[in-house]
Amino acid sequence: MRRPFIMGNWKLNGNKDIVNKLIFNLCQKMNDITGCVVGIAPPVIYLERAREALNNSPIVLAAQNVDVHLSGAFTGDISANMLKDVGIRYVIIGHSERRVWHKETDEIIAQKFSILKKIGLIPILCIGETAKEKAEGRTKEICIRQIDAILCSQGVDAFYNTVIAYEPVWSIGTGKSEVPTQVQILHKFIRDYIMKKDKEIANQIIIQYGGSVTNENAEELFSQPDIDGVLVGGASLQAKVFLEIITIAMEKKS
Ligand code: PGA
Repeated sequence: MRRPFIMGNWKLNGNKDIVNKLIFNLCQKMNDITGCVVGIAPPVIYLERAREALNNSPIVLAAQNVDVHLSGAFTGDISANMLKDVGIRYVIIGHSERRVWHKETDEIIAQKFSILKKIGLIPILCIGETAKEKAEGRTKEICIRQIDAILCSQGVDAFYNTVIAYEPVWSIGTGKSEVPTQVQILHKFIRDYIMKKDKEIANQIIIQYGGSVTNENAEELFSQPDIDGVLVGGASLQAKVFLEIITIAMEKKS
């Protein structure tokens, strides 16, 4: 049984005050939430503050990035064991914004996946096609290439207790969400692909959808059997909207 997983990706947003207020507002309502895993990924500099503000709340913390090295002369980088040290459970990797702006390749992302598994953190592996690739009918091919970068080098067992976030690049931050029934087809395709290697791993893997998720499209998204969760960007910065998305997940998936 897969528990719905709702993760808020704050990206490069927030300050001390926003961290405190947003978390305070989320925590007010978390007692009403059952059966879901809820997480937030504030900017790395605020993770410790967020952990303090969460004060034993069930909300889990994620980082938005990790380095491939564990220590050494890598100015500006943060390692997996440092993240673990400050109470982080999940790490978003392969986000299209890092693929584009930081030129992260499938190989680098596979290395990040591997180091997270080694240290005992849970990767949230983002995959998805660009508008051009979609227009060319290459969505499945792109998703498989991004999954294969890990599958072919680390084996299907590496996907045990991990998360895949399908995020069509063209839908991120644009207000243009993919049609939920289309997302379902793609998620089923991804699960079936993993199923061919290992049924148990395919059945437990959490497949999130990300890309302009709001309180308005969450209901239809969570009505799809293979949409196990959502990775929410912009809408996760408003406590009320994020809580509505969580509530919808709880109701639709219970
Ligand atoms: P969005 O971002 O919800 O603002 O589209 C999603 C993401 O990038 O994870």
